[in-house]
Amino acid sequence: MPKTAKIKPLPQHVAIIMDGNGRWAQQRGLSRLEGHKQGGLNARRVVETFIEYKVPYLTLYAFSTENWNRPREEVEGLFRLLEEKLDEGDEVAREKKIRVRHLGRLEGLPRKIQRRIEEAVEQTKRNTGMTLCLAFNYGGRDEIVQATQRMMSDKVDAKKITEATFRKYLYSEGIPDPDLIIRTGGEMRLSNFLTWQSAYAEIYFTPVLWPDFDKKEIEKALAAYSKRQRRFGQVESG
Ligand code: IPE
Ligand code: IPE
Ligand code: MG
Repeated sequence: MPKTAKIKPLPQHVAIIMDGNGRWAQQRGLSRLEGHKQGGLNARRVVETFIEYKVPYLTLYAFSTENWNRPREEVEGLFRLLEEKLDEGDEVAREKKIRVRHLGRLEGLPRKIQRRIEEAVEQTKRNTGMTLCLAFNYGGRDEIVQATQRMMSDKVDAKKITEATFRKYLYSEGIPDPDLIIRTGGEMRLSNFLTWQSAYAEIYFTPVLWPDFDKKEIEKALAAYSKRQRRFGQVESG
């Protein structure tokens, strides 16, 4: 087993905005799609590192509801890449007992991709290792709107709607809120990521571009997290 650094406390749920593939490619005179390919390779390494650290929940933001506005070629390339990753991920998921969840809207995605996502979720649902949430065709506002629509079609009594009820209707139902949100690529914004769930997350921004975000950088983020004081609106204890 590769060595892990002694970092305490560790987050239970890390969610990552994997940004900077395009710039990584541009800096090397490569196509944006080549950047996404390298980003995909890195995603696999990052999953393995968080497994080594025994972080039980990891969420990766791979395609936002706004990313549909990119050139068609790029969007199609991202779909192809997801399909490839899901295919090669089958074996890793079996070996490492990864449970896959999808956060986002299936509707609107090509049928083949929808099927592939559903299969990955179905085939891994009894796995007992890390829960890996793929935020694909995900938007935080979309999630809140679809939750509201489903509550209304279930005729949930308006007076009985609580935060707990609301959570049950989110894509992330049953998954704890992220303790740490990491954004690579230098932008300091959330770009419609986990709008509800991020309420009390610690946020870590790094200029490192996603394909370069390696184990050393992960350890820096975890170390920074371990020094944060989480008060949740209370006063400091001790
Ligand atoms: C990857 O990075 C994020 C995805 C939407 C897949 P970008 O493609 O946004 O890279 P930059 O921000 O242009 O460098
Ligand atoms: C956020 O990155 C979405 C993903 C990483 C999937 P973007 O590159 O799309 O975000 P903006 O446009 O910089 O806000
Ligand atoms: Mg970007």
